[in-house]
Amino acid sequence: MKKYFIILGPPGSGKGTQAKKLAQKLSYIHFGTGDLMRKEAEKGTPLGLQFKKVWKKGKGELVSEDLVQKFVAQKIHELDISKGVVFDGYPRTVSQANHLFRILKEKSIDNLVVFNLVVNTDELIKRLETRRVCQGCKRVFQDPDSLGITDCNDCEGKLIQREEDKSEVIRRRIEIYNKQTAPLIDFYQKTNNLIEINGNPPIKEVWAEIQEKI
Ligand code: AP5
Repeated sequence: MKKYFIILGPPGSGKGTQAKKLAQKLSYIHFGTGDLMRKEAEKGTPLGLQFKKVWKKGKGELVSEDLVQKFVAQKIHELDISKGVVFDGYPRTVSQANHLFRILKEKSIDNLVVFNLVVNTDELIKRLETRRVCQGCKRVFQDPDSLGITDCNDCEGKLIQREEDKSEVIRRRIEIYNKQTAPLIDFYQKTNNLIEINGNPPIKEVWAEIQEKI
């Protein structure tokens, strides 16, 4: 039976990095709510404008449950999830996990595997403070400043820092993760197949551990 995956972990733990690799390897859909919401915001749709409002406050807050529910239901409706999905950044609260559970149940999907990326806090902060993103193609660069790189070598777009990667916001995001998202570890330990992954080593090593455990 086809497995569906959730990549869980604090901000900067490498969810996006590993989820994209996994989705590509399995030819699954990469369902990253952060990326999908940023796209929606760029399109300037009514939902996208509401996401922007939350981010503009600069407090690292999550988007409200009702908006997430509406957005996820809409996206899942648009995508052919029978291909298989790697969820990244979703679910992020117990209420979202219950919502996803209902969606998957309706589609008779119950083979969910959750990879929990565990990374120490100093490493998270270092990664996020030095992360830059191409304004054009959205490619993620790790610490390009240290190499004097200011433009994307794929599309020549400018490399920028995401608003929520400013030091003061990073700490707040980690606090919010500990309060609102970390309870999911317990939730999935009880209800599903939670697999812990050491997310501290370099990207290749983390990826090797995930592949071993698929
Ligand atoms: P989102 O974009 O999902 O942000 P996040 O969860 O805070 O995660 P990040 O993208 O910051 O980190 P990541 O774990 O994906 O790490 P990455 O692979 O990039 O969400 C943004 C906002 O949208 C939220 O704050 C919220 O407002 C809203 N939102 C989204 N989903 C929501 C939901 N479900 N409910 C409510 N609100 C929601 O890696 C980070 C950096 O480290 C990169 O530069 C990468 O190259 C590097 N790196 C990765 N792995 C390694 C490694 N092993 N060694 C060294 N460097 C590494």
